[in-house]
Amino acid sequence: MKEIRTQVGIVGAGPAGLMLGHLLHRAGIGSIIIENRAQDYVIERVRAGVLEQSTVDLMIENGVGSRLQREGMPHDGIYINVFGKRRRIDMAELTGRRITVYGQNEVVKDLIAARGSSGRPLLFEVSDVSVHDLESDQPRIRFTKDDEVREIRCDFIAGCDGFHGICRPSIPARHIRIYERVYPFGWLGILANAPPSSPELVYSLHERGFALFSMRSNAVTRLYLQCAPDEDLSQWPDDRIWDELLTRLQSDDGWKPNVGPITQKGVTGMRSFVAEPMRFGRLFLAGDAAHIVPPTGAKGLNLAMADIWRLSRAVARYFESGCPDLLDQYSDDCLRRVWRAQQFSWWMTSMLHQPVTDNPFDSRRQRAELEYVTKSRAAMTSLAENYVGLPIEESISGG
Ligand code: FAD
Ligand code: DHB
Repeated sequence: MKEIRTQVGIVGAGPAGLMLGHLLHRAGIGSIIIENRAQDYVIERVRAGVLEQSTVDLMIENGVGSRLQREGMPHDGIYINVFGKRRRIDMAELTGRRITVYGQNEVVKDLIAARGSSGRPLLFEVSDVSVHDLESDQPRIRFTKDDEVREIRCDFIAGCDGFHGICRPSIPARHIRIYERVYPFGWLGILANAPPSSPELVYSLHERGFALFSMRSNAVTRLYLQCAPDEDLSQWPDDRIWDELLTRLQSDDGWKPNVGPITQKGVTGMRSFVAEPMRFGRLFLAGDAAHIVPPTGAKGLNLAMADIWRLSRAVARYFESGCPDLLDQYSDDCLRRVWRAQQFSWWMTSMLHQPVTDNPFDSRRQRAELEYVTKSRAAMTSLAENYVGLPIEESISGG
């Protein structure tokens, strides 16, 4: 068996694992990233699109934001379409902050390029990954690459392997508490070669359910439809998808999305999930490995980036001074932001999906809430403050 030694062993090359490797490299700390999928699969996986300002700032301040600055689409507001009445929430005016639309796969591409320039290892297509001796000061990661079993010995392991990874399940059940809610619906998402007909996102609630209009560029639209959590895609030919999207999204002012060839389709279930604490011994969980939010608040990728900022800072301090204080605070500090995002994501999801319950009282209450949220400046400010995201800390570059 081949043994390799590094300071931090990182499991998973999603946005969390790649960004951690990058921030550690900038702090002069060695890492090895291992990923069970192929590089093309990781780059092509279509997922999030909305970056909070603090995620954008983190990328720019750490030298991986130049393409994001050129190609990202800054948005000052969003629209909410309440049964045909489309109203705008001006987030920039209400909060002084904005979001940027830039595909998660573009973020991943930029981070893989930065890893390549760093010369530090990033291994794709590994298998049989397992983690060991988590409570010792030299934990190990074992895996197979090119039919050879290898072992990484390190000071810390970062579990950045997403919701279905192996790191979280390697923590003994008595040391971890799970909080979970599964929703009775999912999203059918598409990419279409159609120029966006609105410069900003449209979140829509219609009698037939939720729909979301988003984009990836001046030529590509990204759209989602509320569906069953186990919806059978074979029942959704392109014409049916467009009929449903047009019905649910068009508003009384005449706005509707442009139609074009569909290039990608997928169904995602929805859950809220938190594992506490986000640490066991020398294993630190970050991103989707520790928490999942339903996508309506656009928070998942941004939470992963906030965890990573904290973890990189805590690890750097430990290697600089031997002081474990930030490592010891890591889980509590992350969880405060995680629970704020959980509450916001649950609220956006329950407010914008159909049916909340089959009790007509709840439908009328839901409509009243949406009227309030799209008309009261105080309510709009609260939504906007959460949507654009709170600063990760007072100053990202502050240390
Ligand atoms: P992942 O991206 O899941 O990365 C984990 C990596 O670990 C993967 O590459 C996986 O292959 C790898 N891995 C798994 N098991 C192993 C193993 N055993 N060994 C080695 N590697 C392993 N978030 C937002 O902020 N804004 C949005 O607008 C948004 N929209 C979304 C829309 C959809 C349809 C979906 C599905 C998600 C959306 N999200 C959004 C959530 C966002 O995509 C995730 O929160 C984000 O990918 C989390 O990053 P991560 O690195 O923690 O996990
Ligand atoms: C996108 C995804 C989301 O979950 C969301 O809330 C807004 C936009 C997107 O993929 O563009």
